[in-house]
Amino acid sequence: MTDSLKKLAIIGGTGLTELEGLEITDSKEVSTPYGAPSAPLIFGRLGGKEVVFLARHGNPHRIPPHEVNYAANIYALKQQGVTTIIGVNAVGGIEDVMGPAHVVIPDQLIDYTHSRKSTYFEGEMDTVTHIDFSFPYAEETRQLLIRAAEKHDVAYSNYGVYACTQGPRLETAAEVARLERDGCHIIGMTGMPEAALAAELNLEYACLALVVNWAAGKTENIITMEEIEQAIDEGMGYVRQILVESITQ
Ligand code: HPA
Repeated sequence: MTDSLKKLAIIGGTGLTELEGLEITDSKEVSTPYGAPSAPLIFGRLGGKEVVFLARHGNPHRIPPHEVNYAANIYALKQQGVTTIIGVNAVGGIEDVMGPAHVVIPDQLIDYTHSRKSTYFEGEMDTVTHIDFSFPYAEETRQLLIRAAEKHDVAYSNYGVYACTQGPRLETAAEVARLERDGCHIIGMTGMPEAALAAELNLEYACLALVVNWAAGKTENIITMEEIEQAIDEGMGYVRQILVESITQ
């Protein structure tokens, strides 16, 4: 990341509770008006560049997607002067080319979540605020990730509509068929409200998604934790390569 005015954070999801290769310089337990973030903020250097790391599900991994305090996580990063966030998400693949261990840098999303705190603009406010969210991912940060993926021998897609479902259960085959009709290419449970909250705080935000299973009904088999773990083992190495490359570009 050549622009010295940028301060980068990585939010690691399932399979990325710790950032291997990060030379840790500090770890801070912080608080926010929205409560505590999922884990202490980890400060360090990756490929020689400063980065803040936050484990979305806590460390160890224990907070399910619908109980993550997204508002505290994003606010805590903003408090540290972070300007740019890369959110890493494990997802299911719907689109034909997006099978296990495929990396996706989505350009759009559809939010199917409910009952999550999804805005900072509520309660006692002087004015009503509606942010623009036409293009939910920061194009500059997306391009950084795309250039990084290009440099490595990684199977990736530079587009994709991310469907964010409520979870924690996986979908039915009929739900996946509906998401496909809606134009979705991948499904996860943690992309929202994270992206919208980042936008509300004027942070640049992009998603680096790793497909860890075919979505329900895309094969004749049911989805098992074993196959998910196998895809994580295979694919998280690619995710790390892309992260290091994009930070040091
Ligand atoms: N659906 C929703 N979220 C997911 C999936 C899935 O198939 N795989 C990993 N996260």
